[in-house]
Amino acid sequence: MILVTGGAGFIGSNFVLDWLAQSDEPVVNLDKLTYAGNLANLVTLDGDSRHIFIQGSIGDFALVARLLSEHQPRAIVNFAAESHVDRSIHGPEDFIQTNIVGTFHLLEAVRGYWQSLADEPVRQECERSSGEVSSKQSFRFLHVSTDEVYGSLATNDPAFSESNRYEPNSPYSASKAASDHLVRAYHHTYGLPVLTTNCSNNYGPYHFPEKLIPLVIHNALAGKPLPIYGDGQQIRDWLYVKDHCSAIRRVLEAGTTGEVYNVGAWNEKANLDVVLTLCAMLDELRPRSDGKSYKAQITYVKDRPGHDRRYAIDAGKIERELGWKPAETFDTGIRKTVRWYLDNPAWVENVTSGAYQNWVGKQYGSRS
Ligand code: NAD
Ligand code: TYD
Repeated sequence: MILVTGGAGFIGSNFVLDWLAQSDEPVVNLDKLTYAGNLANLVTLDGDSRHIFIQGSIGDFALVARLLSEHQPRAIVNFAAESHVDRSIHGPEDFIQTNIVGTFHLLEAVRGYWQSLADEPVRQECERSSGEVSSKQSFRFLHVSTDEVYGSLATNDPAFSESNRYEPNSPYSASKAASDHLVRAYHHTYGLPVLTTNCSNNYGPYHFPEKLIPLVIHNALAGKPLPIYGDGQQIRDWLYVKDHCSAIRRVLEAGTTGEVYNVGAWNEKANLDVVLTLCAMLDELRPRSDGKSYKAQITYVKDRPGHDRRYAIDAGKIERELGWKPAETFDTGIRKTVRWYLDNPAWVENVTSGAYQNWVGKQYGSRS
């Protein structure tokens, strides 16, 4: 049994689906179901007894403590977070509450649970879990974090390695940095067996259409502007979400506790190039009725305040030490992604109704 937090969000739901496609080990999924959490992502698991969904917050100490004692997970993968930089600029409070205070309460509950475990693994056969169960020694807490904690790179700087200084620039990245520090401190102070992964920008199925790639696909098909912040020459390093999931599984099974692993696929791209790629793919797969390119919808808008210029991940450590490699190139991954959005208009419709309407279009004013 493992506990996944934030498993109804973009990466978390891909992880839960992937996990249960590859093993019968059950998952308890704790998710608050904010605007970013959608049970529609997990509809294929309806009626599957290996998936136990609990709506609730990582900040609810009593709830988490009860879940841990009831289900006795051998590992926890912590995805739960507020994750959108633009939202953190418009309103940082939720980011502080979930990413920092929430992670603290989660860690406190986990510390109590971990300290109550037996020193050595014991074998157990019960209704929901079988095989080796949790012991102090084998337990793992894997904290999923971001490359944004390292700040912004200049054009010729080497990619982020695990020893880069933390220099977070947005309320989002600062709150993730704080959570990473808490996780580290629980290892050094209490001995909690933690692992931390810092990953680059993900893309793929179930990505909420407020982030660049799904927003551009959604707006293009809806005939709306494709907003490029500033000059569009900011660089992000892209990883297909299923590759992130495989990296997390690998770190969970073979990572050294207390260590940090950067995860990425060596795919640096300027934002404008990503948008042009998406336009070209949509021109091919779903041409506009007027025969023009989707490029015509590109609109330059005012830049994001404090916009980080470049992120790039050096994934050498996870490749060398754990033998992990991504399966997708940017070309194969982006094609799968565009096809998924074209094939799943009902999912997009579902998640973009309601609160989404009040958010999208909230940019930084017109370009001056
Ligand atoms: P997301 O916003 O799509 O999903 C977050 C999920 O967490 C949602 O299901 C939401 O309901 C849930 N949640 C929010 N607050 C909660 C709380 N207090 N208790 C329980 N659940 C709560 O985010 P994502 O893109 O899937 O990111 C998942 C994790 O990966 C985050 O920690 C993020 O910082 C990290 N990360 C994301 C990326 C990326 O490109 N998306 C890259 C690197 C790291
Ligand atoms: P985003 O998907 O929000 O991820 P992050 O800020 O965590 O990297 O943005 C990716 C890049 O795309 C980032 O440089 C900001 C830019 N961007 C736009 O140019 N237009 C948009 O509408 C959005 C949402 C992002």
